[in-house]
Amino acid sequence: MEKYEVEKQDKVTAYYNHFSEVYDLFSPKAYYHKARLQAVKELRISKGKTILNVPVGTGQNFEHFQNYLKNSGIIVGVDISLGMLDKAQNKIDQNKWNNIKLLNKDVTNLSCSIVSEALEVNDFQGFDAILCDLGLSGFPHWRSVIDKLVSMLSLNGRIVIMDWYIEKPSLRGRFVKWVGKGEVNRPILQYLETKVGNFQVDTSFNRGGVFVASGTKICE
Ligand SMILES: C[S@@+](CC[C@H](N)C(=O)[O-])C[C@H]1O[C@@H](n2cnc3c(N)ncnc32)[C@H](O)[C@@H]1O
Repeated sequence: MEKYEVEKQDKVTAYYNHFSEVYDLFSPKAYYHKARLQAVKELRISKGKTILNVPVGTGQNFEHFQNYLKNSGIIVGVDISLGMLDKAQNKIDQNKWNNIKLLNKDVTNLSCSIVSEALEVNDFQGFDAILCDLGLSGFPHWRSVIDKLVSMLSLNGRIVIMDWYIEKPSLRGRFVKWVGKGEVNRPILQYLETKVGNFQVDTSFNRGGVFVASGTKICE
């Protein structure tokens, strides 16, 4: 990464380390509830499946994943902010979940071999499902992150993206950008459509500002 990008990413990490203290208050469960339910439903998971959630943030999706997994399988949660991961760990401890592994990583550096190492398995071939929520609007090189995530799916695995898309400049768009430190008009769903099969999108969440897009990995 260029020096400028490293500095920018460091600022984002510091921002989320601070924001983590109040993230669950300012971004309460109710705000994205419908979109999260739809996103997790589109993962098409069941007991025993392996899931990657990046960025995992404070772990707001865990309870929805567990409705399907019932504390079985594996959930790997990745985030660059230790502050956000601390809050996620609190949820894990409070609920005594034992199928969740948290990794403090930049998504840019993620790979199946890093996951193999973290899970202490030799033959990790890829996830059954990957959820990337409120991440791609902020990640630099977001297209290559989508490519990477699709590459980390097993064949017929599911990828779901939940994020903002506000095409025209507006006060709302500026506010979302300021809070999230990202962009709101990236053609994320249009790019995903070119990378997966069975592409579907629902743009009806949060008064049309938030979409849930999904697809299936159809070839290696
Ligand atoms: C708006 S929050 C979304 C968190 C969670 N997915 C949610 O929906 O509540 C954005 C998250 O992206 C994380 N993040 C930013 N850049 C990242 C990177 N390069 N790699 C991994 N995580 C990153 C931040 O630390 C923060 O937790």
